[in-house]
Amino acid sequence: MTSTTPPPRPAPVVELVSAGFSYEDGPAVLSGVDFAVAEGRAVALLGRNGSGKTTLLRLLSGGLRCGSGSLLLDGAEVAYDRKGLTRLRTTVQLVVQDPDDQLFAASVGQDVSFGPMNLGLPEEEVRLRVREALEALDIVALADRPTHLLSYGQRKRAAIAGAMAMRPRVLIMDEPTAGLDPHGQERLLDALQRLREAGTTVLMATHDVDLALRWADEAAVLAPSGLRTGPVAELLADDALLEEARLRRPWGTTVARLLRTHGLLTAGAREPRTPEDLDAWTGTGAASARQGS
Ligand SMILES: Nc1ncnc2c1ncn2[C@@H]1O[C@H](COP(=O)(O)OP(=O)(O)O)[C@@H](O)[C@H]1O
Ligand SMILES: [Mg+2]
Repeated sequence: MTSTTPPPRPAPVVELVSAGFSYEDGPAVLSGVDFAVAEGRAVALLGRNGSGKTTLLRLLSGGLRCGSGSLLLDGAEVAYDRKGLTRLRTTVQLVVQDPDDQLFAASVGQDVSFGPMNLGLPEEEVRLRVREALEALDIVALADRPTHLLSYGQRKRAAIAGAMAMRPRVLIMDEPTAGLDPHGQERLLDALQRLREAGTTVLMATHDVDLALRWADEAAVLAPSGLRTGPVAELLADDALLEEARLRRPWGTTVARLLRTHGLLTAGAREPRTPEDLDAWTGTGAASARQGS
């Protein structure tokens, strides 16, 4: 286990406090959940199928309302009236898992411009935002293409571009890499990296523990005993939690454990989290990794 002191946590943008939710007469999907999404962080929400990831994302983005507890935006309780919801939805954007539930306009450009146009922004500003979002997702060439003629990966990127064009402070994505090929995943991660550099907070639900370890700063794991949050490398090295949540241990965690066992990685050194990290570490990077840089 690393002993590095985490930097002070920025204030949460959105936060669920003691939140509970059940669908109609169904059992409780979530109960007593405390979950704060801190400004500027990259957070991976992990959990097995049916653990409540999608439900949690919809509570945070205002599509569903907590049955008990509350949702805070910048520390103030969200009012579920027109004004409160508009404020929430211009701050937090959810990209749903299936792009076909999100895309509806005839062409990619029209779809991406719909949100900003609805905000009543001047035409020039709408055009600028659409252009930027299409560039970020590398789909400028698809602007005039009918959405129904796109591949799944292209539709997925178009749906994310639509959310990005709203310039949310928090971008929430439900399994954004599901169904993308490795190249599509890399391009999406590049786009997310640029967003983070621009200060956007990103929360992603995923099954992929390797992706979570590589991409996120923080993890939130939905387990039967409740939601656990913390630094991603720490949570994904907790075997009891992984077993309870029925998640696999990430590849990088196993490698880090092996290196530590053999005294090759000192406490506090950042462990390799990708094959590329490991390449760097075994080559010229090894010395600096041992020194804890
Ligand atoms: N619209 C719905 N109506 C009734 N039950 C639902 C609905 N959506 C999800 N559920 C149930 O809520 C639980 C959590 O689902 P979900 O949030 O979709 O989990 P995950 O995204 O982790 O797979 C599951 O038991 C699921 O069957
Ligand atoms: Mg889901």
